[in-house]
Amino acid sequence: MALLTSAPRGTQDVIPAQSRKWQYIEQTALEVGRLFGFSEIRFPTFEHTELFNRSVGDTTDVVQKEMYTFNDKGGRSITLRPEGTAGVMRAVLQNGLLNDGIPLKVSYLTSCFRYEKPQAGRLREFHQFGVEMVGSANAAADAQVIGVAKAIFDKLGIKDLRLELNSIGCPECRAKYHAALKDYFTAHIDELCETCRGRLDKNPMRILDCKSPVCAEIAKGAPVVLDYICDDCRTHFETLKGNLDATGISYQVNPTIVRGLDYYTRTVFEFVATGIGAQGTVCGGGRYDGLIELLGGASTPSVGFAMGLERLLLVMEQQGCAFPDAKPCMLYIGSMGEPASRKAAELCTALREEGFYVDCDTVGRSIKAQMKYADKLHAKFSCIIGDNELAEGSVKIKRMDSGESETVFLDPNDLTRYIYGETLSDLNEFTDGTMGSVLRY
Ligand code: HAM
Repeated sequence: MALLTSAPRGTQDVIPAQSRKWQYIEQTALEVGRLFGFSEIRFPTFEHTELFNRSVGDTTDVVQKEMYTFNDKGGRSITLRPEGTAGVMRAVLQNGLLNDGIPLKVSYLTSCFRYEKPQAGRLREFHQFGVEMVGSANAAADAQVIGVAKAIFDKLGIKDLRLELNSIGCPECRAKYHAALKDYFTAHIDELCETCRGRLDKNPMRILDCKSPVCAEIAKGAPVVLDYICDDCRTHFETLKGNLDATGISYQVNPTIVRGLDYYTRTVFEFVATGIGAQGTVCGGGRYDGLIELLGGASTPSVGFAMGLERLLLVMEQQGCAFPDAKPCMLYIGSMGEPASRKAAELCTALREEGFYVDCDTVGRSIKAQMKYADKLHAKFSCIIGDNELAEGSVKIKRMDSGESETVFLDPNDLTRYIYGETLSDLNEFTDGTMGSVLRY
């Protein structure tokens, strides 16, 4: 029975009390993205497995250990997306989005699936907000993408995130670096885990982000890629640093960041938080100049990032960041008897068309129970309609905080006038000062 009432390990419900926070984060991220010209793209939850094998890379932990892969009923190998970039680039190519001019700037909110060991900030189903800028090799593009992430954190009031930056070079410099890594790790071959021994020939860089503690310890002494990058890659890196300096974005060069996905070239970066445990990387990204070509498109340099929304929320809660208050129910219309109940529903419909959050009884409860419910909703005003009110065509409407009341016509216009009039006196409580947005939803 427990299987029916407990969700699979590593998944999480977002209950109504929390969803307001999620909506706030998601809307803020999308809106900040929009200010930089990024428009939302949506794409499937699952793709052909081959897409991820190719783009994320078949020697990565993600592909080797973490993907949710299965055969569908037609015998095709399908994978739940472990990340967003591969699917977005597939969609960009399939829909010919690059014909509309470059750079193409897209943003997305997605769920991702990785079979990892769950812990605080690490789930098997998690959510990302990401942006991808497709079609510019220029370091100004990298700086702008990093600027989007920074602007989102600022807008959400998040402080003290450390931006760590590195360059992992291009395929040419990578070859020299791989040779150096191979030499280094060959000397430790007996200590490496089985997966990493297999990586030694194919992709020694992947040993650097193996999660096995022994491999991680050995990796600490490995050569760093920044010592091997070519002049062009170094110039690109220096230009990016200059661009970030110019926009006042501070960073630390961390030569050990290589990222866990194979498609990266040149710039890689992470925003790291302290105080939410071992999984402190809130956002990761970088440049992936070879990915579109790898998928069959024309060579198109690109750069992007994704931030983990669960981790973002953990940081915001830990730092005590403000979330907008839930807007209360404006008016609860109680009723006694069938005709009154119908009138309540009719008035609610009219008031909702005006943009007010209003509610009425749908359970058939006593007036006492209905008013208890109105309290629970933190309704600002309430009224009770019975046979007398219907006969007289008017009702007593009450402020729930002070108990003051006034008689108004049983008519949406008069109810609206009352709500506006009463709330006018409260307006100084609101900061944005505009009547419509204060009262309407
Ligand atoms: P990633 O570093 O694998 O990059 O993931 C990005 C972010 O997703 C991480 O920094 C973290 O906040 C969050 N995340 C990753 N795994 C988990 C997990 N198991 N549980 C909770 N949160 C997690 C990518 O996915 C790239 N596609 C980013 C990118 C976009 N690069 C270029 N464009």
